[in-house]
Amino acid sequence: MDFRDIAREEIKDLPVYSPGMDIDDVKRRYGVEEVIKLASNENPVGPSPLAVGAVHRAVADMSLYPDSSCAELRRRLSEKLGVEPERLLFGNGTDEIIDLIFLAFFNPGDGAVMGDPTFSSYFLTGMTVGARIVYVPLRDFGHHPEEMLGAVDESTRALFVGTPHNPTGTICTTAEFERMLAGLPPEVILVWDEAYCEYVDDPEYPQSIPYLERYPNLVVLRTFSKIYGLAGLRVGYAVADPQVVDMLERVRPPFNVNRLAQAAAAAALEDSAHLEKSREVNALGKRYLAEELDRLGMRPVPTQANFMLFRYDHLTGNLAARLLEKGIIVRDGAALGYPGYIRLTVGTPEQNQAVIGAIEEIVS
Ligand SMILES: Cc1ncc(COP(=O)(O)O)c(C=O)c1O
Repeated sequence: MDFRDIAREEIKDLPVYSPGMDIDDVKRRYGVEEVIKLASNENPVGPSPLAVGAVHRAVADMSLYPDSSCAELRRRLSEKLGVEPERLLFGNGTDEIIDLIFLAFFNPGDGAVMGDPTFSSYFLTGMTVGARIVYVPLRDFGHHPEEMLGAVDESTRALFVGTPHNPTGTICTTAEFERMLAGLPPEVILVWDEAYCEYVDDPEYPQSIPYLERYPNLVVLRTFSKIYGLAGLRVGYAVADPQVVDMLERVRPPFNVNRLAQAAAAAALEDSAHLEKSREVNALGKRYLAEELDRLGMRPVPTQANFMLFRYDHLTGNLAARLLEKGIIVRDGAALGYPGYIRLTVGTPEQNQAVIGAIEEIVS
């Protein structure tokens, strides 16, 4: 039996998602004791102690299914954001919500407009349902609203915009956000992915949630994987029109957010000190890395996120592979649509210094 014969046509040639190297893989393969992983934009501060405590307490009940409606997390988040509880949808990471959007709203051949390069979940998930992916080249590492709107046609179901954008770290301004909303037909969804919004310090960054009242086609995505430091537990959420949420609920698997994840996320929302510290560590690290990479001639792209894209190929060969040999895992831009670049997560001061030291050694 060749199972390729019975698989759906749309998935046969899909690449399998490559998450990059794992800490244990690197230890084994390169015989290094200490590994620094700055490849997946996780929070180097770690999770909030309140989240850790909540997980410990929730462990005793792990023989019970979780609350499928995430009632407690929903209550706390709706209060924090000032939105009605029925505007929230929770997912096993934002990644799952992207899946649900395609499942609920896309027939094969329907168009999904997105930047190029962009976050791979948008196009890989779209391809699984046979969506027609319409790529709009980035300009200066950012989205171009008019060109994106120009790519919309009658088959378009949604436009995907990460802001800050992965892998570039650029944002869309309030004016750009408003132009996209005003220019989209009301039946085309704007998926506004704010996975890194808590790190942004640019005053031009829009407060997206109040726009939901006027634009029922806006879907804001956020996650507990980044600044909240809970990537290993998988919780993300959408804020959207109740009717959109209702459609997504119909394709959501029951119990998709596990018990420990719900407890951790609800507790993390209460820890403003952890959020503040994470922001500070990132701001300091971002400044240090930008200055040092600039000094080394690596041309870092100005970022509003907790990662930084920079160019190296005019100075050295395969930098990601050479850093790996030293026990430092970064994301090679070749896998992200930027060959010759690296996407580096901002780490702790010690991690940042170690990376810069290693790069300096390799380049000289
Ligand atoms: C832009 C963007 N959106 C969504 C995600 C997925 O986050 P989650 O861990 O919530 O699935 C990521 C993770 O890297 C991301 O960079």
